[in-house]
Amino acid sequence: MKVLITAGPTREPLDPVRYLSNRSSGKMGYALAAAFAEAGHHVLLVSGPTDLDVPPGIDFVPVETALEMFEAVGRHLFRMDAAVFAAAVADYRPASAPDQKIKKSGESMTIELIRNPDILGSARSKMNFTGTLVGFAAETENLEEHARGKLVRKQCDLIIGNDVSKPGIGFESDRNELLLVYPNHSEAIPEDEKHHLSHRLVREIEVLAATRKGS
Ligand code: C5P
Repeated sequence: MKVLITAGPTREPLDPVRYLSNRSSGKMGYALAAAFAEAGHHVLLVSGPTDLDVPPGIDFVPVETALEMFEAVGRHLFRMDAAVFAAAVADYRPASAPDQKIKKSGESMTIELIRNPDILGSARSKMNFTGTLVGFAAETENLEEHARGKLVRKQCDLIIGNDVSKPGIGFESDRNELLLVYPNHSEAIPEDEKHHLSHRLVREIEVLAATRKGS
């Protein structure tokens, strides 16, 4: 299969020296990219800035902002068999980013933010993607309910949910605990290393892709 994976955070510039971002390390997306490549698939990794080494044998498109990630995905998605959106995309970006450093003045400041495009949510509706579509849901409460909402809204074949409020797993960690949410059922996968979980996820997504092709 040809598989596109988004990973890492995005950085939304405020001025030349500052940005808004989030706590994604990129570890889950990079582990998935490595697992797909090890299983013999052709991987294109579209990634925001991380400290991780790009796994061997995969094509790599580095991006910074959500808009750059949206554009890179839009350029490549049409020729993919499957896509896994593991990036923690910033939902909003500063409405303007001046060319010069913002100087401090006054006791408070207000930053206007505007909505970024939903890249996963655009895959079917705007980019007309017909392959196997997988997203993540990082939640702090009501994991299954929120994940199922995303599955339907973003027209995915699978949403991989994780509870980011649990200590020791999820963001920045090497470990995770997952809830696989499919259209007709859900399955909990107990805590394990992201590396091991990735091999399991590759097998799940291979089955989904084979079913999709056959239908
Ligand atoms: O709606 P929410 O951001 O919680 O959905 C998470 C899923 O959507 C993840 O798979 C994430 O990579 C994807 N996403 C995206 N573009 C955005 C926001 C989220 O691709 N702007």
